Amino acid sequence: MERTFIAIKPDGVQRGLVGTIIQRLESRGYQLVGLKLMQVSQELAENHYAEHKERPFFPGLVQFITSGPVVAMVWEGKGVVAAARKLIGKTNPLEAEPGTIRGDFGIDIGRNIIHGSDGLETAQREIALWFGDSELVNWTSSA
Ligand code: CMP
Repeated sequence: MERTFIAIKPDGVQRGLVGTIIQRLESRGYQLVGLKLMQVSQELAENHYAEHKERPFFPGLVQFITSGPVVAMVWEGKGVVAAARKLIGKTNPLEAEPGTIRGDFGIDIGRNIIHGSDGLETAQREIALWFGDSELVNWTSSA
């Protein structure tokens, strides 16, 4: 079954949006298979954002994601990678549609509340980077 990686960034956690975000994904019909609240290390942040290493905003990106607690999650279900991106909305909250998480709660591209994997391969890479196998549950064998 398809899985994606979702992280609620320090601004989303500090603004009390964790419950709202989880509810939106749950009520759409997706299943939470991994969840942890964590302080992100410099190494994990640099690895996660490696594709942006040469961008001028990279240092700020790493600084921000390591600045406070992050809720890291893995969600599972049919078409979850693309569907979660739609629920999240465009990277720049000013361009995100109302009804999406960023469109409803954000105005700043660097403080855009949430991250979601942008494709199947990225999802696999990010899940492996953030979670060990033993941290992920299997609903079908435990339900
Ligand atoms: P995210 O989905 O976490 O993936 C990369 C992040 O880089 C993105 O969300 C934004 O928060 C950030 N980002 C992208 N473009 C810019 C930019 N021009 N200035 C600052 N941050 C950016």
